[in-house]
Amino acid sequence: MKSNHTPETLAFQDGKLSLIDQTKLPGELTTLVCETVDQAHDAIYRLVVRGAPAIGIAAAYGVCLARNANSSPSRQAYLQAADHLATSRPTAVNLFWALDRMKDVIEATKDDTQLPTALLNEAIAIHDEDRQMCKAMGRHGATLLNDCHAVLTHCNAGGLATSMWGTALAPIYHLHEQGHSIEVFADETRPLLQGARLTAWELAQAGVPVTVLTDSMAGSLLRSGKIGAVIVGADRVAANGDAANKIGTYPLAVLAKYHDVPFYVVAPSSTFDLKLASGDLIPIEQRPREEVSCPHGVTIVPEAADVLNPAFDVTPAELIAAIVTEKGIIENPNSASVHAMIGGPSQP
Ligand code: MRU
Repeated sequence: MKSNHTPETLAFQDGKLSLIDQTKLPGELTTLVCETVDQAHDAIYRLVVRGAPAIGIAAAYGVCLARNANSSPSRQAYLQAADHLATSRPTAVNLFWALDRMKDVIEATKDDTQLPTALLNEAIAIHDEDRQMCKAMGRHGATLLNDCHAVLTHCNAGGLATSMWGTALAPIYHLHEQGHSIEVFADETRPLLQGARLTAWELAQAGVPVTVLTDSMAGSLLRSGKIGAVIVGADRVAANGDAANKIGTYPLAVLAKYHDVPFYVVAPSSTFDLKLASGDLIPIEQRPREEVSCPHGVTIVPEAADVLNPAFDVTPAELIAAIVTEKGIIENPNSASVHAMIGGPSQP
């Protein structure tokens, strides 16, 4: 759901990776071009490209950039590129999922001269599959929102966080396309304001009514009875259905439970980490102090004070009414239902 003038969140052309620079939105719509593996690593770390699925796609193309340092890189150089990109951010498992796929291709391609083409094809496949998964999550998720006229979301889990449409916003775009009237309330999402800057920007571009609130307003908004559902994305879902997402998601789930509003997580199978038994094992990224203490270059915290800046929190499965995946909907997620859906066949 982009206007004709909006570039793709990510694109790979002429051996270079172009990214919408999300650090500049909504003030400036510009693209950043990465020509080296280091530049792709830096773009992921600085949140030029962000959101779990988009990080995975960017990293897959990032491996292909090893070719720009040496026209015929060795398999070792590609493996080093993958290992380096894996250090860019720790929480979104899509990063490791995509890099593992790229490493599998390196292992399986016996003729080194075939590596550049084989790796680019795999990165394109990861990108294409993400588009299909977003569409399918939109279709499945929309069935939960048919009677809903307003939802609350947190962070940005839309087209800017994926190849298109997003995860949590995919059902909204699906319903909007079908002429269903639905409005979105977007938490601003401290400290980096992905809700205010990105979710509001992309929904407005698509013509979906959107209202931004500060994170601390969510409780009174839920109490007002206006919100039919809370819907968010995820960076990693453990085997028991516990879900890590942007810091501030967990308190929102607690508030939703108290106010009897269903809390939905939307995430593709690439965001599940079935190796982790519970959310307690999910690594949580700690970001620099300045993101909290000095937003937009203005110091708001005295030097003498410490600052907490975890980028994510974990919502226990018991607070999640359903997890929407491209394969179908996991109601009341737990280890058995997660295993059955993520290991099982797709629903039409
Ligand atoms: O730090 P960010 O902006 O990468 O965090 C993104 C989120 O928390 C999203 O909600 C999540 O990745 C799901 S994106 C479809």
